[in-house]
Amino acid sequence: MTKRTPIKVSMEKLVSLSRRRGFIFPSSEIYGGLSSCWDYGPLGVELKRNVRQAWWQDVVQKRDDMVGLDTSILMHPQVWVASGHLEGFSDPLVECKSCHLRWRADELEGDSCPSCSGELTESRQFNLMFKTSMGPVEDEASVVYLRPETAQGIFVNFQNIVNTTRKRLPFGVAQIGKAFRNEITTGNFIFRTREFEQMEIEYFVKPGTDKEWFDYWLKERLNWYLNLGIKKENLRLREHGKEELAHYARACSDIDYLFPMGWSELEGIANRGDFDLVQHAKSSGQSMTYFDEEAKEHFAPYIIEPSAGVDRSVLAFLCDAYDEEPDKDEIRVVLRLHPALAPIKVAVLPLSRREPLVKVAKELYADLRQCWMVSYDDAQSIGRRYRRQDEIGTPFCITVDFESLEDKQVTIRERDSMKQIRIPISELKTTLAAKLAGEPFEVLP
Ligand code: GAP
Repeated sequence: MTKRTPIKVSMEKLVSLSRRRGFIFPSSEIYGGLSSCWDYGPLGVELKRNVRQAWWQDVVQKRDDMVGLDTSILMHPQVWVASGHLEGFSDPLVECKSCHLRWRADELEGDSCPSCSGELTESRQFNLMFKTSMGPVEDEASVVYLRPETAQGIFVNFQNIVNTTRKRLPFGVAQIGKAFRNEITTGNFIFRTREFEQMEIEYFVKPGTDKEWFDYWLKERLNWYLNLGIKKENLRLREHGKEELAHYARACSDIDYLFPMGWSELEGIANRGDFDLVQHAKSSGQSMTYFDEEAKEHFAPYIIEPSAGVDRSVLAFLCDAYDEEPDKDEIRVVLRLHPALAPIKVAVLPLSRREPLVKVAKELYADLRQCWMVSYDDAQSIGRRYRRQDEIGTPFCITVDFESLEDKQVTIRERDSMKQIRIPISELKTTLAAKLAGEPFEVLP
């Protein structure tokens, strides 16, 4: 069989599929939507939960040197003074004097408005933090910010983690949570939004070992995407030049993905040195050092930070999984999602709506639901039902037919190869568990 080149999906197609099948909807749609805000539908929420879970399992559960944390979105405003965000977390903004659209000066190709060719204002720095006020009185003293990164919640808890977990260097802290940035320009679906979710690791190491750990995490994080099925040719590492480094970073490399609009950042891995701990120590007057029992010395550890976006990962997984292939006179759309990420793992499809077939199928559906997200579909032909499941990435379909009543067996059909095997109902759960965990799907001669 000749190997087909997988197709590259356009953003329009992906937005349309996401909307049509209930992955992602525009936010507040009945009011015309809210720019750059999106809601995850019944399938999207499962996909997103699976992305978070795959990350948490790999970086926390399976490791001895990591712990988790969940800190608040609103933090003491002094955090953002110490971190440098109040002063420096900004992008250069220009405004068109004719149509008043606003642009990021560093992203423009010419020196006129990309929309109407009008003259642009001088560029000024625009702080990306969302401001709000805490309590019933709105004054300068009540100002708080929605966190622009989850990282600071980890830094300010450094001593709490050391004291309560007795972790010794090197060790890391992982957090998943919402972050907010009042981006000047947004777009490309869920790629760049003003409200998004991050999955961040702050890995504390002994100064001098930071370069080694930086390289370690680059490999580790690249492999995470590869192991979850992203094609190698769609990933690359890109090292930041000196002029591009964030104010806290000694070094940074991005893991880029080849999105429909071109290569763009999926995750950033930074060497933050001791910047954050030193800043918080100065600003709070509290000790942020670590005592090394062997060397009998106090120092602020260096920090390696792999920082990923949940929404951007969801987008990359969707783009990479999307495929179309000829199927008789039609096109089969299939999301070749890794089974760990697929929103629905198994679909139960009775061949007919007649009893006692339905009873058997529904019993099976109820039983399988105890283990996985399962869907039940008895509408239209079996071919159409397979297509519906292919399009949302369901790895396995179980068909219950009249023979099943006699031989107590069902057919399992695999999404990617469309191969089918027939197995006893009594072995269904163990077989599905093995196949979902990656056991090859082989049709016995
Ligand atoms: N703590 C470091 C930090 O926040 P970053 O490169 O600014 O670093 C890390 O952000 C990741 O967060 C990005 O690689 C991206 O996946 C995600 N991210 C950042 N801004 C985003 C936005 N406006 N919309 C969606 N995801 C975003």
